[in-house]
Amino acid sequence: MSLKKKKKITSLIICFLLLLLLPIVFSKPTRNLDGTGTARAPTVQQIRNKHGTREVIVDNGIIRVSFSSPQGLITGIKYKGIDNVLSPHQRARGYWDITWQGGLDQVEGTKFRIITQNQEQVEISFSRTWESGSRSRSHHHIPLNVDKRYIIRKNTSGIYAYGIFERLPEWPEFDMGQVRIVFKLDQDKFHYMVVADDIQREMPTDGDRDIHRGHAKALGYKEAVQLIHPHNPMFKNQVDDKYQYSCEIKDNKVHGWISTKSHVGFWIISPSGEYRSSGPVKQELTSHTGPTAIASFISGHYLGTDMDVHYGEAWKKVLGPVFIYLNSGDDLLWEDAKRQSKEEVKAWPYDFVASSDFPSRRERGTVTGRLLVNDGLLTPGRFAYVGLAPPGEAGSWQTNTKGYQFWTKTNETGYFKISNVRPGTYNLYGWVPGFIGEFRYKNRVNVASGSEIRLGKVVYKPPRNGPTLWEIGVPDRTTREYFVPEPYKNTINPLYLNHTDKFRQYGLWQQYTELYPNHDLVYTIGASNYSQDWFYAHVTRNNGDSTYKPTTWQIVFHLPYVNMRGSYTLQLALASASRANLQVRFNNQYTMPLFSTGYIGRDNAIARHGIHGIYRLYSINVPGRLLRTGTNTIYLRQAKASGPFEGLMYDYIRLEEPSRD
Ligand SMILES: *[C@@H]1O[C@H](CO)[C@@H](O)[C@H](O)[C@H]1NC(C)=O
Ligand SMILES: *[C@@H]1O[C@H](CO)[C@@H](O)[C@H](O)[C@H]1NC(C)=O
Ligand SMILES: *[C@@H]1O[C@H](CO)[C@@H](O)[C@H](O)[C@H]1NC(C)=O
Ligand SMILES: *[C@@H]1O[C@H](CO)[C@@H](O)[C@H](O)[C@H]1NC(C)=O
Repeated sequence: MSLKKKKKITSLIICFLLLLLLPIVFSKPTRNLDGTGTARAPTVQQIRNKHGTREVIVDNGIIRVSFSSPQGLITGIKYKGIDNVLSPHQRARGYWDITWQGGLDQVEGTKFRIITQNQEQVEISFSRTWESGSRSRSHHHIPLNVDKRYIIRKNTSGIYAYGIFERLPEWPEFDMGQVRIVFKLDQDKFHYMVVADDIQREMPTDGDRDIHRGHAKALGYKEAVQLIHPHNPMFKNQVDDKYQYSCEIKDNKVHGWISTKSHVGFWIISPSGEYRSSGPVKQELTSHTGPTAIASFISGHYLGTDMDVHYGEAWKKVLGPVFIYLNSGDDLLWEDAKRQSKEEVKAWPYDFVASSDFPSRRERGTVTGRLLVNDGLLTPGRFAYVGLAPPGEAGSWQTNTKGYQFWTKTNETGYFKISNVRPGTYNLYGWVPGFIGEFRYKNRVNVASGSEIRLGKVVYKPPRNGPTLWEIGVPDRTTREYFVPEPYKNTINPLYLNHTDKFRQYGLWQQYTELYPNHDLVYTIGASNYSQDWFYAHVTRNNGDSTYKPTTWQIVFHLPYVNMRGSYTLQLALASASRANLQVRFNNQYTMPLFSTGYIGRDNAIARHGIHGIYRLYSINVPGRLLRTGTNTIYLRQAKASGPFEGLMYDYIRLEEPSRD
């Protein structure tokens, strides 16, 4: 054989080998395709299991989901040869829950129905209607009709879940702390949690949190523990607290868990904000040690208790659908989950939901316009938040839980388009970073089925009574720009070291007393720098013996001239308040306060590692006679101090001169 021929054969063999290798190189799974062709039309089976209890089983060849019937708790999810990805140790593994004054209600259904069953999908319902009268079975149930729906589609590795909640006007009043869907996963499998690209880590176990067995030490409140003897010594002295993984609704599209052993991911995908409550920057829990994953619809976290249900009120709200997505592969499970979450957003509003309470895309409307800001000069309302929410006062969307909300952001020139709006009557609300206050468009907006409403130019005139004398911070509804200290060495969460969200560490509030041991914070306009000299939260002073006392901050400023007969304005924007009362005095801290907020706030943003809760703006009229030529002092006293967590966060403060007109 000639050398040439030999070479040719060798290269042919190499080519052949490469061809053989190709499928291996390209079959590395990056998406959830089992490729076995097992996908088939979903089936529904009703059985009695070995304990004699009824179960409903839906199987599409990719996943097999078991429900207790007619309660409708998800008892098992079989996927990729794993018999159950959910926890074997708990009865409630995949369930709705509502916290209300009657306790915890897992809204167990009393009636099972198959809503849809065809080649493409199965939709099932577990429902419960409320009966009035104290002797009725509904006695311990929240006074709502609830219809829990689950959809399992062909060739889909996941479950769509939604709930239809209805209240009739004559039913009793109650307070509703939270409404959510919770999944408890198998702790032997799921150890790695992902909330965002830069918020993901190996997690401690539920057992690591056990303070009774001495695995952990209790901290300032029950959700936070310090890990003393964790199963993985790497976690020693770290803090575990579910609130460190809170996320604003606008960013909370997908989160969940990865089993690195089984190469399986479990994700909660929330394709829309319409069914959530309290607007786009409301913070909700995501996933946390357990392993637990949550789809939160309504909660008082970072908000307070302003969402009670009142007598005479009637409403019906569809919560969801959210998508519980499972994927598998060697790696890139998080990347695949993000890709899937984009698909779900694109498919919203889903066209396969059977309930007539869920309008299709065709039945929804669009609202467009351009937001301008008139703060002396007319400028585009750039990158502003605008949204449709139930009619109310400016800012009322912050506490609204019973209606739908549709939010978007304007572009650089102020244009906005709000799509897929359910038919109804709304107000158009908004706020613009860089400006104070709440926008509300003067007319109500009636969205009819299939309509497109062009509002044209809408103008927001932020509160202002005169030119700026000085300001502290930036109006962005957070305390992000102020001084946030480094965490204590023995209570860190290493995830947030060198992180833009450094405020998510435990115990930062305690450092105020250490930074200001003898006197409270004094901020001098012109000399101080708010990113170093303005503590991110106005907290109480720790006396060191489990008692606390109020603190009084000072703003010192110089006026070369005072208009004694003029009226100055202190614009004071708060980013958060928890059981606080802020008193404002000028030049004499022992007088009656010029202004007092009264008792405000239950958002608990200080304890929950937030940089904001609810936004409040106070425009305080300051008579010129209270000011002096030369040095002036404003005293900001937070007067409530029964513990470490009463306090405030400032968004922005500005002193305005009397108007020149
Ligand atoms: C099944 O779903 C996958 C991923 O979404 C898709 O690529 C594939 O074409 C689907 N197969 C069928 C038969 O519809
Ligand atoms: C903003 O949106 C409007 C309307 O869609 C468009 O005409 C304009 O080009 C956009 N401006 C920028 C800067 O993207
Ligand atoms: C954080 O940054 C500092 C200094 O840049 C570095 O020494 C440290 O290793 C970093 N820590 C983490 C957890 O990345
Ligand atoms: C204030 O402090 C920050 C952070 O230390 C610094 O980047 C900024 O330049 C300072 N501003 C002024 C006006 O000195």
